[in-house]
Amino acid sequence: MSAPSKVDKVLENYSFAKRDKLIPILQDVQAADGYISKPAALKVAKHLNIPASKVYGVATFYNQFRFKPVGRYHIMICRGTACHVKGSAAVLKMCEEVLGIKAGDTTRDGLFSIEVVACIGACGLAPVISLNGEFHAKITPDKLRKLVDDIRKTENSNAAK
Ligand code: FES
Repeated sequence: MSAPSKVDKVLENYSFAKRDKLIPILQDVQAADGYISKPAALKVAKHLNIPASKVYGVATFYNQFRFKPVGRYHIMICRGTACHVKGSAAVLKMCEEVLGIKAGDTTRDGLFSIEVVACIGACGLAPVISLNGEFHAKITPDKLRKLVDDIRKTENSNAAK
């Protein structure tokens, strides 16, 4: 028998759960796996004895859920009001340009992904991004480009070792 997956482990914590636990389960699955994969959605549906379409319906309604794996470097760009006023649109544009992907996507090499989020609760740092959970304050398009360049350099030199 194969080892239980991360999703199986999440579901173990919801042994007798009913459908009202769908959202917390999906949150935990995403926290464990990084996104809601198709097999994970099917497992959740089976576990709660509801149709998979219901799981997708709920998950797509809330934009907190992702359906694609995130990159090793996940960039969350805040587009809340304070960040918007301080120029987050230009930061997002630079990010999409420099990575060659749109918000919501992951680069083909799996290194970077971009997500646009509403206020992340650090308005005093606006415009702010989060890179793998770490805030970068008062970000500008140039700072963002440098951040990505530095990561690429580090990754390339690690790959060459
Ligand atoms: S609006 Fe960006 S942190 Fe609040």
